[in-house]
Amino acid sequence: MSAGDDLEARQRKHVMFTWSAQGSAASVRISGGRGARFVDHDGREFLDFESQVFNCNAGHGQASISEAIASQASTLSCAHPAAVFEAKAALGERLARVTPEGISKFFLCLSGAEANENALKMARFVTGRSKIIARRRSYHGASMGALSLTGDPRRWAAEPGLWGVERIEDPYCYRCPFGQTYPGCGVQCAEHLEHVIQMEGPERIAAVFIEGVTGANGGFVPPPEYWPRLRELCTKYGILLVADEVFTGFGRTGKWFAVDHWDVQPDLITMGKGITSGYAPLGAVGLTDRVAAHFDERALQCGLTNYAHPIACAAANATIDLYERDDLIGNAARMGEVLKRGLEALKAKHEVVGDARNLGLFGTLELVTDRVLKTPLVPYNGALIPGSKAARLKLALHQRGLHILLRWNYLFIAPPLCIDEDDLNRGLLLIDDALTEVFA
Ligand SMILES: Cc1ncc(COP(=O)(O)O)c(C=O)c1O
Repeated sequence: MSAGDDLEARQRKHVMFTWSAQGSAASVRISGGRGARFVDHDGREFLDFESQVFNCNAGHGQASISEAIASQASTLSCAHPAAVFEAKAALGERLARVTPEGISKFFLCLSGAEANENALKMARFVTGRSKIIARRRSYHGASMGALSLTGDPRRWAAEPGLWGVERIEDPYCYRCPFGQTYPGCGVQCAEHLEHVIQMEGPERIAAVFIEGVTGANGGFVPPPEYWPRLRELCTKYGILLVADEVFTGFGRTGKWFAVDHWDVQPDLITMGKGITSGYAPLGAVGLTDRVAAHFDERALQCGLTNYAHPIACAAANATIDLYERDDLIGNAARMGEVLKRGLEALKAKHEVVGDARNLGLFGTLELVTDRVLKTPLVPYNGALIPGSKAARLKLALHQRGLHILLRWNYLFIAPPLCIDEDDLNRGLLLIDDALTEVFA
């Protein structure tokens, strides 16, 4: 038994895995790492093309973040939710600087799900309305409210969820839900929001929750008109526009936030993951002054024991400083161009790649068994059948030392933003090689 096998056996005995049958849950063995790479307990190195779970944007082993955590822990590591301390004040200032114009107040919680949970409550409090509109192929978190917003089948097992969540279709250009082709489509995916609003009663709808770019449900990069049109419609009907930037925030798409690509100012923005690069648990809701003003004289009925935890605040400050110091957001934009060329090359070479899309360092290869019919390699919500080509591809990627997510027929590419061109091309070559082994 290797050191890794032994450790895993001990852990499996008492600690549960998420989102999986415990007996067959896949583990990620990690003992440490540096930059875009990590090592397991037997000294095997992996190139991290999933940034752990799309959160380690700054990369592994960043000393400035761990030192800030250690320093905070040695001075103040336990504080009342209403406590005033330097790391908390400084984080508010930093977030106000990097979030989209107009966002100026922040509610600091523990995760992306909790950020959405709180944004949902705030939207109801502020508007006095109860319905929410969210997208069909979406993920907003595992807690009951966030899961109710979620379109993804991960919601199904927990149903019935919250009342009053209505769905709109996705900006999924490769398989347009309206059978259209961009740009002749009139951006129906945005336009039909108005139809749903009218059918559900504008005066009953509190908010529209939308991921900046769809995350693990397919990496759909919306057409340029999409977000501005959502903004117009929400303004027209007095509905709050909530950008869920948990996945796409903090540089993933080559700008601080995905909505920055389209100069859109949401009313609320939810964050998590890259806010600390996974070095400590933290989520946040950003509010405009106008929305936040609602709570000037009324109680904000949201809160947690570990609100704005000092260690998480210190980790976030150091992470944001690192993004700025090393120009990691700029690097994500530059490497995004390299990624775009690499994904196009893979599509040109491999028949199984039906579509390739990316924004910054978030890329998706959509795998199909027939390019004309666009038959997905694995159907929506389909299981990974042992011995199938998809299962063989997953294994081939792992055997080549690539940590990467293959979900249904989507292969997602999302390395830490500090990755250099050599490592990015090396990872793409490993994908090329694995596709050749399984499909050529
Ligand atoms: C878009 C989006 N929102 C919310 C969440 C939930 O974040 P967390 O898992 O930190 O609660 C995720 C997690 O994957 C996400 O991708």
